[in-house]
Amino acid sequence: MQINNAIVFVTGAGRGLGTHFVTHLLKQGAAKVYAGARDTARVSAEWVADERVQLVTLDVTDPASVAAAAEVAADATILINNAGTLSFGGALDGAIEDYRLDLETNLFGVLNTSRAFAPTLIANGPAAIVNVASILAFAPARNMTGYSISKAAAHEFGQALRAELQGSGVQVSVAYPAQIDTEMLSGVDMDKASPSSVAERILAGVVAGERDIYPDDASASLAVLYAENPWSLERVFLRTGE
Ligand SMILES: NC(=O)c1ccc[n+]([C@@H]2O[C@H](COP(=O)([O-])OP(=O)(O)OC[C@H]3O[C@@H](n4cnc5c(N)ncnc54)[C@H](OP(=O)(O)O)[C@@H]3O)[C@@H](O)[C@H]2O)c1
Repeated sequence: MQINNAIVFVTGAGRGLGTHFVTHLLKQGAAKVYAGARDTARVSAEWVADERVQLVTLDVTDPASVAAAAEVAADATILINNAGTLSFGGALDGAIEDYRLDLETNLFGVLNTSRAFAPTLIANGPAAIVNVASILAFAPARNMTGYSISKAAAHEFGQALRAELQGSGVQVSVAYPAQIDTEMLSGVDMDKASPSSVAERILAGVVAGERDIYPDDASASLAVLYAENPWSLERVFLRTGE
């Protein structure tokens, strides 16, 4: 799948990783980028003035909003499911409403947009759906239990989507980043990958036709660890001594 001349819809494009997706898509010759944001008036990225960019109001948890966005972007060839929420909380103390919010956004949001855009992408193929999951899809991090569960669900949804779209001309890639330097993790003090390099590496994976993309050094080495022994990630993320 080429980025050059592609027509791309990015969810959650107004800040964080999403804005870096738009920057790299434009740099790599995308013909048009639909930048989905809940409040387009608040988007202040430098690419807003680029004539190839069209801002689209989109809340991925609202089916009517998703349907309207898919109607506007009837020429799309790539959908990047980037929008996400992270609520902190553990297995015993995490608020149920926080679990629900992360599942609504990170699972059902991806499901809503994927279903709404699938007919368009099939008609316009070759095409691609790119889901931004997380390395926490493979084991939960301490105090991020609901979020990790939502990304595990998104991981399996991506697998099911890939199987159902096989032979349709729509490639499905799922990215599994480790920690990225955006607002999402602003309160957590640890080494983080630059969002620009993560966006660039995810797009490179899409061009290479990769189904699973590990877009930073930490996620790439954690993926090796997981392939050798799935329990090893549980030990690393939950810092258990087992
Ligand atoms: N940061 C990390 O360490 C990290 C690691 C692995 C994976 N990821 C994943 O990478 C993706 C991007 O995250 P980020 O780091 O850029 O986080 P971020 O800085 O918190 O940005 C989140 C983006 O998602 C949008 N969003 C949230 N709920 C939405 C909804 N219901 N409808 C539409 N847009 C919504 C936000 O829009 P508003 O401005 O309207 O809130 C914002 O644009 C997420 O899927 C996240 O889970 C992040």
